[in-house]
Amino acid sequence: MKAIGVDEAFIAKLVETFYGRVLQHPKLGPVFDARLSGRWPEHMDRMKSFWSSVAFRSGAYGGKPVQAHHGVANMTPDLFPQWLSLFSETLEDVAPTPEAKDWFMATAERIAKSLTLSLFYNPALDDPTKKTG
Ligand code: HEM
Repeated sequence: MKAIGVDEAFIAKLVETFYGRVLQHPKLGPVFDARLSGRWPEHMDRMKSFWSSVAFRSGAYGGKPVQAHHGVANMTPDLFPQWLSLFSETLEDVAPTPEAKDWFMATAERIAKSLTLSLFYNPALDDPTKKTG
């Protein structure tokens, strides 16, 4: 991580810049703010410790990301591509190296995919007995 320019200072800047932009975003902003109103400082701290746990395998986070997203009002699958493009634009602006951008982006895409599955996947849609044609 050090070799590709990633340190705690970069993670703090990434989280602050990204959630600053999330709040300005017409679709993402209201969904986040409705849930986090009055709790933004804690959310920012949690996201910094989340990313530093993932990047440095430090174990500092210890939360439950899937549970945290259950019951977020107005959470819809189409928000995920928007979250990912905003994250990508942010990395474009703040990442210290292209390798850092690629690593954060690949990690976010992987987590977004697993969150999407756990939040929206309905096994009944894959039931062969319900398939027509
Ligand atoms: C459309 C996409 C997303 C939305 C609307 C969303 C929304 C939220 C909200 C509202 C919270 C605060 C929950 C609470 O404290 O009550 C949260 C927490 C969190 N989100 Fe997301 N999120 C999205 C995508 C992602 C992605 C892609 C990641 C991972 C890269 C992620 C990682 C986390 C983590 C680690 C927490 C903290 C969980 C904890 O409390 O320990 N989220 N998210």
